[in-house]
Amino acid sequence: MNTEPKRILLIIGGGIAAYKSLELIRLCRKAGIAVTPILTRAGAEFVTPMSVSGLAGEEVYTDLFDLTDEAEMGHIQLSRIADLVVAAPATADLIAKMAAGLANDLASTALMATDKPVLIAPAMNVRMWQHPATQRNIATLKQDGVLFTGPDEGDMACGEYGPGRMSEPADILAAIMRFYGSHLPGVPHGPLTGRKVVITAGPTHEPIDPVRYIANRSSGKQGYALAEAAIALGAEVALVSGPVHLPVPPGVELIQVETAREMLAAVGGELPCDIAIFCAAVADWRTAADAKQKMKKDGSGKVPSLELTENPDILKTIGHLKKHRPPLVIGFAAETENVIVNAQKKLKAKAADLIVANDVSHESGVMGGSQNTVHLVGKDDVESWDKMSKQAVARKLMDRFAALYIERA
Ligand code: C5P
Repeated sequence: MNTEPKRILLIIGGGIAAYKSLELIRLCRKAGIAVTPILTRAGAEFVTPMSVSGLAGEEVYTDLFDLTDEAEMGHIQLSRIADLVVAAPATADLIAKMAAGLANDLASTALMATDKPVLIAPAMNVRMWQHPATQRNIATLKQDGVLFTGPDEGDMACGEYGPGRMSEPADILAAIMRFYGSHLPGVPHGPLTGRKVVITAGPTHEPIDPVRYIANRSSGKQGYALAEAAIALGAEVALVSGPVHLPVPPGVELIQVETAREMLAAVGGELPCDIAIFCAAVADWRTAADAKQKMKKDGSGKVPSLELTENPDILKTIGHLKKHRPPLVIGFAAETENVIVNAQKKLKAKAADLIVANDVSHESGVMGGSQNTVHLVGKDDVESWDKMSKQAVARKLMDRFAALYIERA
């Protein structure tokens, strides 16, 4: 295993998103990644060299022709001291320079001179992002092997809406951690190596009698995709699954259950763990009496009525644990109306750290389908993501959960 300390060279370009780079520095350091910062001249219009170097705990490099810096460390040497060069925000200008191979300031020179992989987080106005020149440059950079994170779609500082927002710092950190997980020679593990993740998935079946049961339309696809994504990040994964017809992702420990009560017991048996994700569509109710014999028609036309009783709420139980509450407890909220408001209520009632909410109304096609549109509902904020495949949602969610876990650890 490579025990060298991790270090990135962070180039902060001149965009309003530069303020997010300060948070990125903080997150990186918390994750044990040292940051050598370069602040472009335009970047220094948005954040001060003092705050950048203060957070990095290191000198900030600002100008190619600063003779003192040149004497201490040449720009060629600077471009190679890190494992990875990260440009965030990567402005349209910086991207154009990279694509054209221009080197007329410290940032562009470092990007040209480096022999290390480069990860960029583009940030610009939506029209600038969509401009054919930018798209040409992006295609060139992708061909050159440059790694990307974002841009995200959403409201922009300029009042417009669309793609161009810089990735959130937690997502950039996740991309950096992915790099360390999979690209550094001698480091065959990921950001969740040594961490245990417990995931519930699928429906529960609540028996009415020996042949009938109450169920729902959950396919288990989202939970299984999460398990696969957690394995990819190096985690040990226990997947507590209701009855589904899905292949078990390699490396996952599968615990098959039928009822909510069995699911709760199985989750309890997997504690302590680091991250618990409650993705299962647990039946809220079961029959009060579970008939030992098959219920029969007696020919009289009388219809039996089912008396229901409440099932244990697994998420709520684990969220409120005093001992062995996992440091990160994530719930899902399948709603057919008032998606966000209901998710916020659940976050509180179930003492979750985050709720992933989605619309499962019939029109949405989410239940049983292969795509999902999710909203991340936290204590103070809501983040809505575009429609994606359940696999893409799972990868993005697991990256986010890993970053959150590390931030809180
Ligand atoms: O069904 P509900 O919308 O309340 O589900 C919200 C969250 O609570 C989901 O994460 C679900 O897995 C979890 N839950 C649970 N046990 C229940 C009901 C829901 O763990 N009995």
